[in-house]
Parts: sequence; C-alpha cells; structure tokens
Amino acid sequence: MEANAPSPTIVLIGTDAALLGAVAASAGASNAGAVRVLAESVEQACKRPEIDTAAVVVVDIDPKRRESLVALQAIAMRSFGRAPVIVLADAFDDALVRWFLQIRLADFLRKPVEPKEILKACIRALKATSSLPEDGSQILSFLSPAGGVGTTTLAIEAAMLLRKSGQKDDSTCVVDLDFQNGTCTDYLDLEPRLDLDEIGPHPERLDLQLLEVMFSRHASGVSVLAAKGRPAERPALDASVVIRLLDLVSARFENVIIDLPRAWEPWTDQVLLGSNRVYLVTDMTVPGLRLARRLAGALVERLPDLKPRVIVNRFEQQLIFGNGLRRAEVERALEGYFEGTVVNNYKLVREAIDRGLPLEAVKAGSNVSTDLKRILLAQAADKMRAA
Ligand SMILES: Nc1ncnc2c1ncn2[C@@H]1O[C@H](COP(=O)(O)OP(=O)(O)OP(=O)(O)O)[C@@H](O)[C@H]1O
Ligand SMILES: [Mg+2]
Repeated sequence: MEANAPSPTIVLIGTDAALLGAVAASAGASNAGAVRVLAESVEQACKRPEIDTAAVVVVDIDPKRRESLVALQAIAMRSFGRAPVIVLADAFDDALVRWFLQIRLADFLRKPVEPKEILKACIRALKATSSLPEDGSQILSFLSPAGGVGTTTLAIEAAMLLRKSGQKDDSTCVVDLDFQNGTCTDYLDLEPRLDLDEIGPHPERLDLQLLEVMFSRHASGVSVLAAKGRPAERPALDASVVIRLLDLVSARFENVIIDLPRAWEPWTDQVLLGSNRVYLVTDMTVPGLRLARRLAGALVERLPDLKPRVIVNRFEQQLIFGNGLRRAEVERALEGYFEGTVVNNYKLVREAIDRGLPLEAVKAGSNVSTDLKRILLAQAADKMRAA
C-alpha cells in the first residue's frame, strides 16, 4: 500500500483489511498503478477527499446494511462520469443488481474473489472509460409519432454519414430498440444477433465481452445491435437492462444511433434523457406535422431538459395538397421544434431497402443524403459550441 501516494489511481474502501491489502499488494506487484486503501466502512469513507481524485473506486460492502447502500450511492454520484465504481459483496439478488445498474456501477464482484480478479475488473473499467474519444461519444435517438415515415431509413443513413466522419472505421453503431418489429438489419441485409433470452434474465452478466459477439457488422464498418425478432411477442425488457446495454455501447463507440419503437416503453424516457440529440421524424402531411408538434410538446413538458428536434421527411418543394404547404408553413406549424427537411425520393429509398443497401451504395451523394448531412452538421456545430 502506498499510503502517501500523491495521486492515487485506485481507491479501495472496506473493513476487510486483509482482502484490500492483498489487492494493493497485487497492484504493486503488477505495476497497475498507485493504490490507496481506506480501511473503514463505506459510511465512514464516503466523504473522504481521496474519492474525488480516484481514477477508479472499489467498495467492499455488506448490502444488508441500508446505510452502506446509501453511502455507496453517494460515492457513485460523486464519481459519476469521472471514475468507475466497482462493488464487492458476499451476495446480491436480482433486485440489488438492478439497483447497481441504475446507479451506474461499472462492475460488481461476488466474494470470495481473488485479489487478481479485482485488479482485472479495475483495469477493465479504466479501459472502458479511457476508450471514450476526447470529446465523448454521442448518442442520437430517432423516434416518430407516426408509422412508416422513414425513421429507420434516416437513422441508418445518419449512421453511414457519421461513420465517415468518425476517427476510426469502427466508430459507429446503430441500436435497434424496436425489439418487436425492428427492421434495421433487414435494411442492411444483416442477421440480427442480439440474444434477448441470454441478456434479459441476467443483466449482471452483461458486459462488453458478451456483447461483442452480438453486434452485426456491415461492410461499411457500421455495427448494428438488433434483436432476433419475435414479432408475435412483446419482449418485456427491464429498464436497467436497456440502460446497461446503452452504457456499454456508448463506451465502445464514438457515435451511437438509436432507432426507437413508437410504443412507449418503461425505458423510453431514460433513453431519451441519455441522448445528446432526439430527432422526431415525421412526414410532410398535416396530421404528421400536428402529431410531431404534439409529441415534441408533450416530451418537453414531461422531460424539461429534453430538446427534441423535428425532421420533416419526404419533403416536396411544390405545393402538395389542398392549398398546399410550404416550408415556411411547415416551420410555423412546428413552433420552434423544426430542425430541417429531407427530400422525398421514393425511387432511391425503395431500391435501397429492397436491395438491403445503404443509400450511398445505390447512389453516392444523393439528395436525401445531402439533406441529412446538413442536419447532422448543424448538430455537430451545436455540440462544438456547447463544448
Ligand atoms: N426520403 C424519402 N423519400 C421517399 N421515401 C421514403 C423516404 N424515407 C423513407 N421512405 C419510404 O418510407 C417507407 C418507410 O420507411 P421506414 O421503414 O424507414 O419508416 P419507419 O418510420 O421506420 O417505419 P416504421 O414505423 O415501420 O418503423 C419506406 O418504404 C421508404 O421507402
Ligand atoms: Mg422503423
């Protein structure tokens, strides 16, 4: 143990001095970095300043003690977004695991556990954090108030465009959260590989290693996470599982594009709140615009931090019906939620879908792609301004 290490990287908390001492010794032996042991209960340790400078925090707790859980939560909140927190405990049931996931613990290990295993978990958690790109990963969610307006088409095309601007080839993932009727893999002629039977009942087993085999890879370099479809069932996934899934995916990819189902799920709010941008896609019809306006308003009322932006797909320059609807009117109808339009190009989109190809592969630099690029560039500019 290096009691006076100037900038401790691993902080170990708990009353099992023998175990924590062994972890510290093992870290010293393997050069895993400086270690600071706080040999006291988590309640006593939770206000210590060392936690604020830790790169990773390991907490050994007795989960039967309510005070310990409260203190653990305080540590998780203090470290959120900065240092991963790992828990060691004798036993945890499903309810506790869900709660661990909700408070965003990086990992949890059941005792007895080898000191080496604890160290490995620290290194894994550190790697997951440091693999984030400098400016952080971004999550863009696509959602629609009406069916068949082109949400999936735009989500996939956005991924194709963002991949090109990514730092690495393997920078972008589409997550199809429409577990029942998702079409992302069909549109790209891929096999869905996310196995809900495997992860649903065992959220505690869900880690990047397990998930790695569940991505479908497109030749373009874009990855897709989509469930093997079960159209006649409504898979009831726990919110904690979905959030855990997205946490892992966003630690792994620079750009995460989410295609959301229209039916409101228990986890939809959380997914939207965790997104850097929420696009509501609608078509250029009067009911379509009204539905989008209403959904945007309802979302903002319920989730005041959210700033949903409406994309009007299948836009036609000409007057299209009745007295006609012009761009200015579209903007007015959407009362400040309007983000942009994407042109109607049925022939191109239809061919792409039928052949299982991205739009780019059917026609490079199409007008649909140009419109969407403009929207994504505006988002990137917003992001830079915020940074
Ligand atoms: N910009 C566009 N121009 C012309 N047709 C389009 C455009 N975008 C989408 N479409 C057409 O709209 C139809 C629905 O597209 P898509 O499946 O992407 O919509 P969706 O909103 O995801 O549907 P669902 O509600 O079933 O999930 C497709 O047949 C596609 O050809
Ligand atoms: Mg769709």
